[in-house]
Amino acid sequence: MPNPKFQTPKGMHDIFGENWKYFNRIFEVVESFAKFYNFERIETPVLEDTELFTRGIGLATDIVQKEMFNLRTKGGDKLALRPEGTAPVVRAYIQHGMHNLPQPVKLWYFSQFFRYERPQAGRFRQFWQFGFEILGEGNPALDAQIILIFFNILKELGFEKLTVKINSIGDSFCRPYYKKVLVSYLKHRAYALCPDCKRRLKENPLRVLDCKQDKCRQIVSQAPQILNHLCENCKNHLKSVLEFLDELSLPYNLDPYLVRGLDYYTRTVFEISEESEKGKAIGALAGGGRYDNLAKILGGGEVPAVGGAAGIERIVELMKEKQVKLPKEKKPKIFLAQIGELAKRKSLKIIEEFRKEKIPIYESIGKDSLKSQMKLADKLGVKYVLIFGQQEALNNEILLRNMETGKQKKLKLKNLIKEVKKIL
Ligand code: HAM
Repeated sequence: MPNPKFQTPKGMHDIFGENWKYFNRIFEVVESFAKFYNFERIETPVLEDTELFTRGIGLATDIVQKEMFNLRTKGGDKLALRPEGTAPVVRAYIQHGMHNLPQPVKLWYFSQFFRYERPQAGRFRQFWQFGFEILGEGNPALDAQIILIFFNILKELGFEKLTVKINSIGDSFCRPYYKKVLVSYLKHRAYALCPDCKRRLKENPLRVLDCKQDKCRQIVSQAPQILNHLCENCKNHLKSVLEFLDELSLPYNLDPYLVRGLDYYTRTVFEISEESEKGKAIGALAGGGRYDNLAKILGGGEVPAVGGAAGIERIVELMKEKQVKLPKEKKPKIFLAQIGELAKRKSLKIIEEFRKEKIPIYESIGKDSLKSQMKLADKLGVKYVLIFGQQEALNNEILLRNMETGKQKKLKLKNLIKEVKKIL
């Protein structure tokens, strides 16, 4: 076929065929964890007030500055396609008065998000995330539990070489002072920073810490570390989170340069990655942290909270690379073939009976010739074919053919379900 005129927009994909097998498997595992840990599902609108993100994620972040899909409605409202799920979840918590519910409120999502990024490995403009958020409690045990949930979901999905990076970025009490110390160190070396970091130095100096450019990394490797500048409360919080992780024997690396790309974090931040054998720079599979001030920034009260999200396309890509085996799908073992007007008419009703009895069945009600239906049945690899011809339809009978032995048996239509149940 010549190059089609219409194609998916840049960085966006159709999901069909075998990809759904991976998506469904991930959903199944995530949902089972959500149920076990008593998280409730939430789905927020795809569009939100732009200000929810500019305020929530932070004006100086790449997401807000470069990656938002913004639009203005005919009525003049400024809306944005959601680039992430945490700010909308906190918006929903405030809007629906969830502080009146028993705390913490535990919510999960499996949704699509949008970032205007340069498409590359593991980076798309429309992508899926699953996320878990615990709102209303500040206990460090919850930070550890969130990390544990993401770690174990990824393990259950077949990843064996996971690395957990963890850091504390302090709170509004100790971070401003650390920022000053960092800026004064970086200022003297600004000439050697990459252009992006020169800008970050003014707008968001902590982001210089996780720049991937070699020259910036060199400078950062000698920079003052936030872990040495945490206030007593933040230090104790981090210590406690690490003790919980030790107790769980969950392996982690304390990474003083992990800062993440969203401004709402306080104290704990984490990222989980899996080693890619092909050395693909696919990025972290999951990331998150504590965001105790976000509700206040968005006009709510004091709501300590912690959560994380994982990128589903990245997980699928690595599952494929690692040839992770998916559980075998249950495929129908029976094919219904029909010949002639009367049989076709009656077939629709027979298929309904199978559906009501929850017995999966293949059919090809749009085809007329027996030959093409038998060919299809053969291709699908079914063990039995029900052959429903004109004569059988008149006599209220049907033929059951065993495709392995070639043997056929005539059944009364009224006994069909009972007989089929016997052989399955
Ligand atoms: P994030 O690190 O921006 O955090 O995204 C989480 C995960 O989503 C990433 O680790 C990655 O796997 C995936 N991801 C991000 N951007 C893209 C993209 N352009 N294409 C494909 N996958 C992508 C957040 O979004 C926070 N809301 C996480 C959180 C929840 N923190 C607290 N609660």
